Amino acid sequence: MDHKLIVANWKSHKTVEEGALWLEELAKSLSSVDFSSKTLVVCPSFTSLALYVPLITNLKLPVILGAQTVSSYEEGAYTGEVSARQIQELVEYVIIGHSERRTLLHETDNAIEAKVGLAQKYELKSIVCIQDETTLIPQGTTIVAYEPPAAIGTGNVAAIDDIERVARAVTEKNPDIKFLYGGSVTDENIQHFIQQPFIDGILVGSASLDIKRFLTLLQQW
Ligand code: PGA
Repeated sequence: MDHKLIVANWKSHKTVEEGALWLEELAKSLSSVDFSSKTLVVCPSFTSLALYVPLITNLKLPVILGAQTVSSYEEGAYTGEVSARQIQELVEYVIIGHSERRTLLHETDNAIEAKVGLAQKYELKSIVCIQDETTLIPQGTTIVAYEPPAAIGTGNVAAIDDIERVARAVTEKNPDIKFLYGGSVTDENIQHFIQQPFIDGILVGSASLDIKRFLTLLQQW
C-alpha cells in the first residue's frame, strides 16, 4: 500500500505546554491508529521544536517534526529570521509559501524559490503550498500541497474534479513530486480524499488542533 503523508499545521496556535499535552494524548492512543500506512508530520511553532525532539523520542511517537516556514536568508544579520541550517537540527520537513504568508506577510515567488533552495541545501523536505496550477513550483521542491485559498479555514473543501485537474497538471511537469491536498480537511470529510489515487496525503490546519478530533481523522486513513 502507498504510504500517505499527513501533515498537521498548527499555525500560531498552542503554547509549548499545550502542544506537549497533545503529543502525550497521542501517545496514549497509538494502538488505535495504523501507522504502517502513513507518515505523520507535525508542524508546531519554532518555539516548541527543541523541546519536542526529546519528547517525541521519549514517548516513542511515530511523529516527524516540520517547521511552518524558514528564512530565505542563509545566515547572518537577519533579526528574527530562523534559517534552514538552524531548523535542520530539529526537523525533517518545512512548509514553504503557505498562502497566509504570501497574503499577510507578502512573501514573493523569489523568496519562496530562495527558501526551497536553502531547504534543499540543508537536506530538508520542502512542502510547497500552491494556490492553483499556475503557482511557481521551484526546483528542489519535494512535496506540493494544493491549498486553494477559498478552502482554507472556511469549511468549503475544493471539488474532487478541481483537485484532480491540479494534481495532473503538477505531476505531469514534476513526476517525482508528492501531491497533497489542504483546505478544510476534517475527520468528517476525510473519506472524500482517501480513495483518490492522485492524492498522496493531506495538510490539515484547524482539525489537527484537537487531539481527539485528529485521532478520529487518523483512524480513517
Ligand atoms: P485548514 O487549514 O485545515 O484549517 O483549512 C489548512 C492550511 O491552511 O494548511
